[in-house]
Amino acid sequence: MKKKLIAGNWKMNGGREANEALVRAIVAGLSAQASSCDAAVCVPAPYLAQVQALCQGSGLAWGAQDVSEHEQGAYTGEVSARMLRDFGTRYAIVGHSERRQYHGESDALVSHKARAALAQGITPIVCVGETLAEREAGQTEAVVKRQLAAVIHDNGHCISEIVVAYEPVWAIGTGKTATPEQAQQVHAVLRAQLKAATAHSDRICLLYGGSMNAANAASLLAQPDIDGGLIGGASLKAADFLQIIASARAA
Ligand code: 13P
Repeated sequence: MKKKLIAGNWKMNGGREANEALVRAIVAGLSAQASSCDAAVCVPAPYLAQVQALCQGSGLAWGAQDVSEHEQGAYTGEVSARMLRDFGTRYAIVGHSERRQYHGESDALVSHKARAALAQGITPIVCVGETLAEREAGQTEAVVKRQLAAVIHDNGHCISEIVVAYEPVWAIGTGKTATPEQAQQVHAVLRAQLKAATAHSDRICLLYGGSMNAANAASLLAQPDIDGGLIGGASLKAADFLQIIASARAA
């Protein structure tokens, strides 16, 4: 059976001292649990080396929050997948709604970023999700399918190597979670789309993200097509993050 995956997205939070305390507490908590669930933290790029040193040899993997679509060259400020790989990075979030919204990332760009990550053996965590206006206009399904279709179109041959995160924009950082039924409904749509794209769709982890926390994780993770979570705020508190991982192990 596929393992569940709980990934933290620290966003633009952290600092050397806080990171060390947080990662040490998570690693210590994990070593007390059997590893029937994969766990990772996606950290700001400058801290990858620090987090690598703290996590090496533990049950906690680490990832980046973005990656360049380009291999190398004159792209000031960008970080390539090869550079991420130099630091043992296992995952790279691509297409987070905050990047789509604040940095104008298009579906095409997101799919190129996923391709760049895959080319270096890094698992892209591809984020999709509708805004509140899109949900209210009945466009949820069309929006997430369009976002995922771009990635499938560009990466069809290795699409079973990706992770997909459904993150309804209206649920991110708002304390307003999708109900387990709402989330499952969209996950089922994404699962069907992946099934049509690859014979190995059952390998693909479908994460839910958007105000997932220690209190609501169990009911979301109990849904048949929810294979884990992408956690923002609650991943900054070791006890909460560990509780979510424990819920995933029990699900
Ligand atoms: P919150 O868990 O803070 O709502 O953030 C979710 C998210 O955006 C994870 O990528």
